[in-house]
Amino acid sequence: MELIATPDAAVVWKDNQLFLLDQRLLPETEVFIQLSSSRETAQAITDMVVRGAPAIGVTAAYGVVLAAREAFLMDARQWKQTIEPLLDDLALARPTAINLHWALARMKQLIVQLPDGDPENALIKEAQLIHSQDIESNVCLSDIAADLMQGCGSVITHCNAGALATGGYGTALGVIKSAFRDGKVDHVYADETRPWFQGSRLTAWELEKSGIPCTVMVDSVAATLMAQSKVSWVIVGSDRIAANGDVANKIGTYSLIVNAKFHGVKVMVAAPSSTIAMNTATGADIPIELRGSDEVMKCGGKQVGVRGVDVLNPVFDVTPAALIDVIVTEKGAIFHPSEEKIKALMLS
Ligand code: MRU
Repeated sequence: MELIATPDAAVVWKDNQLFLLDQRLLPETEVFIQLSSSRETAQAITDMVVRGAPAIGVTAAYGVVLAAREAFLMDARQWKQTIEPLLDDLALARPTAINLHWALARMKQLIVQLPDGDPENALIKEAQLIHSQDIESNVCLSDIAADLMQGCGSVITHCNAGALATGGYGTALGVIKSAFRDGKVDHVYADETRPWFQGSRLTAWELEKSGIPCTVMVDSVAATLMAQSKVSWVIVGSDRIAANGDVANKIGTYSLIVNAKFHGVKVMVAAPSSTIAMNTATGADIPIELRGSDEVMKCGGKQVGVRGVDVLNPVFDVTPAALIDVIVTEKGAIFHPSEEKIKALMLS
C-alpha cells in the first residue's frame, strides 16, 4: 500500500495494519514500512524507525493489537497468557520513554477486563483512542504555551519533538507551530542533535514543510547564540518527567539548559501528562538508555572515529527541576516545578 509521508503522521493504522514512516531515512527518503507482528514492532522501536516518547507509546499500543491477533490465532482460549511475553518484548524496546510503559499499562488494563472472544476490535479502539488523545493533548498544551509567551522572537529547540515524535502535531514543535501562528515566534534555531541528527534531519524537515523559518546549527553553537541575545526561549520535549519535576530528554538538553540559565534565556518543557511518571521519584531514578558505539564513531554508515576506542553514548540526560522555568501540559502550566505542584496538576 502506498502511503504519502506528511509531517502530520509518523504512525498510521490503516485497514487494520500498522505502518511506520521510517525516520532513519528522512529527509532523503520518505517511505512507510508495514509491521506484521508485535516482535517486528518492538524491534522497529529499538532500531529508531519510530522515535520520540509519545510516538513510541502510540506505536506500542498498536503493537499490542498485533500481539493479541497473534496470541488469539495461536490459542483462542489461552490468549491472555500467550500474549504476556509479547507484551514484555514491547516493554523492553526502549527504557527511558515512559509513554511506552504508560500506553502498555492502559492496553493491559483493558485486556484484563475483556470477556472471552476475539479481542481485536476492542484493542484497536483503545489504541486509536490513545493516538487521538495524544494529538488532542499536544494541540491543547501548545495553545496554552503560546498564550503565555510574550512578544515575538527566536527560540532554540533540541532533538525532534514534533509530529514525527508524537501521535501528531508535536510537543515542543507543537508549541512553536502555535506560537508562530500567533506571532510569538518568528525563527527557530534547531540543534542538529548528535548522534542521530534528529534536529537537522527531522525538525528541519517538519519546520520546512510547515513554512516556519529555521536555522540548523551544531549543538555547541547554542551558548554563542545566547550570548548575542538572539534567543528568547529554549523549548524542548521530554521522555520522562519525574514526580519532583526533573526532566529527562535527549542528551545535550541539560547543557543547553545550563547555558540558558547562565544567559537569562527562559526554559520551557512541553509534554503531555502521560510523560509525567508519578512513580519515578526523582531524575536519579530515571533509567538512561545507553546505545552502541557505532552511532558515535560512524556517520552515514562510514567510519569516522578511531576503530576500537572506548565510546560513551548515553542518549538522554536529566535536567534538575530547579533549572526549568515552566512545564506545560494539556492540564495546564507549572512555573518553577516542584513535587507539590506536579502532584496537584496530576490530580486536577
Ligand atoms: O532518541 P529519540 O529520538 O527517541 O529521543 C526523542 C527525544 O528526546 C524527544 O525530545 C522526546 O521524546 C520528546 S518527543 C515529543
